[in-house]
Amino acid sequence: MAEPLNKFNENITSETKNPTDVIQQGMYYNLFSEGMDISPNLSEVYELALAYYESKILTKKELIKNSAYFVKVDDEFTNHYFICTGDPVKIPEYSSSRLKSFFINNQFRTGYSTHGLFPYRGKFHPQMIKAIINIMGLKPGNTILDPMMGSGTVPVEAALMGIKAIGVDSSPFCRFMAQAKCDALKIKHKCLDGLIDKYESIFSNFNSCPKKINVQKDLFFKNNQLSEESDSEKIFNLIFLAFLDSEGYAQRSKRKSHIEHFKSILERYITAVNKIAVVEKHLNITPVQTILQQGDARNLDVENNSIDGIIFSPPYSFAIDYLKNDLSHLKYFEKNISKLNKSMIGMRGKSLKEKYCIYLEDMDKVISECSRVLKKGRFCTIIIGTNDSQLSKALKIPKENVSGLNKVVIDIGLSKGLSHVRSLPRQIVGMANTMRQEYIVILKK
Ligand SMILES: C[S@@+](CC[C@H](N)C(=O)[O-])C[C@H]1O[C@@H](n2cnc3c(N)ncnc32)[C@H](O)[C@@H]1O
Repeated sequence: MAEPLNKFNENITSETKNPTDVIQQGMYYNLFSEGMDISPNLSEVYELALAYYESKILTKKELIKNSAYFVKVDDEFTNHYFICTGDPVKIPEYSSSRLKSFFINNQFRTGYSTHGLFPYRGKFHPQMIKAIINIMGLKPGNTILDPMMGSGTVPVEAALMGIKAIGVDSSPFCRFMAQAKCDALKIKHKCLDGLIDKYESIFSNFNSCPKKINVQKDLFFKNNQLSEESDSEKIFNLIFLAFLDSEGYAQRSKRKSHIEHFKSILERYITAVNKIAVVEKHLNITPVQTILQQGDARNLDVENNSIDGIIFSPPYSFAIDYLKNDLSHLKYFEKNISKLNKSMIGMRGKSLKEKYCIYLEDMDKVISECSRVLKKGRFCTIIIGTNDSQLSKALKIPKENVSGLNKVVIDIGLSKGLSHVRSLPRQIVGMANTMRQEYIVILKK
């Protein structure tokens, strides 16, 4: 709704102000209470908007415990500050200076906790997800759903915030990766001591034995004299994820052999897990259990009106072929890739136009399912990019007549009993992205 004109005019000064006074006071003075320090590296308008909403919605205690964009409140450091500081994420020595500076600049955004394990395409910014969970009004004990969880950013973040998460993805590799990252939050400090000394034998077992993951797991337990207790499974998942990660690196970079990549990636994973374990102990955080499933977002195995909040980012009908991308990892999980392809949104159809039509039908089903499982009065946030140029070519219509995907999902939401609360634009800064802007679309049931 538009602001009444007289209220708007009150904010416009009728006298010239002294520039020194205005500049010295700073912009944040008007946005936040005194004593609230926002996180360093905050550089985008949407981040400032999320920080502003957090400051208005959360109590002081909640800001200290769970806020995403504050490092200090009234001289008390926030949990987010502790989670993100300490030793920086260990990246290989030979990494390019561009990669090193990416990690430094994104210390508070992406590389913390277990989010830095495995570079999954299309992954959320964890800090942004944490803020969205907060502004959707979710509290410890509530349940959040990500029906297309990919690498598991939502479940990992929720688990640390005391919020139960249900994560679904049609790819068995995504389910495994998300599980490994959530499990890693529960591995106690020092549990991984001595592991790196065994990297050669672990590697040769993984590399030589038959390919299926269950066979790998049994062998791992036997060779390392471990029983199938839950902790051993968590450790296996972490190491196997490092192995899959190293396979990808070895294919992309010939600077090191596969086993050398495995060693340095395993070291990095161990550092990340030990770091979060120490922080959890210090802050008294017990990560909450997550339920992660291989499933179909168009037909969720979730009860009606049972979910307190939903966040997801769908694939696009033009962008990443997730199955093709993950083919070398998927061979450990599923033989029948064409069967998987049938449930992947954005992949079916021959021409781009046909793909787009099927995509719309699929998104209709996904949003209908979200509306079904969400409790009344709760929020569903969809993070979606615009690809007007590609759509205009595919549909053979002028660009200005293309309805952006952000608008399409709002219209579908309206038809499923959801209302549109707000859309926040966000620039996409990655080099290889065809999409330049995406939207954080907030709907309410
Ligand atoms: C943009 S990615 C999500 C990335 C995720 N937000 C993260 O932080 O890693 C979209 C995901 O949707 C999954 N997907 C595609 N079709 C699906 C379906 N029918 N049901 C569930 N997941 C699906 C893909 O496997 C992919 O992991």
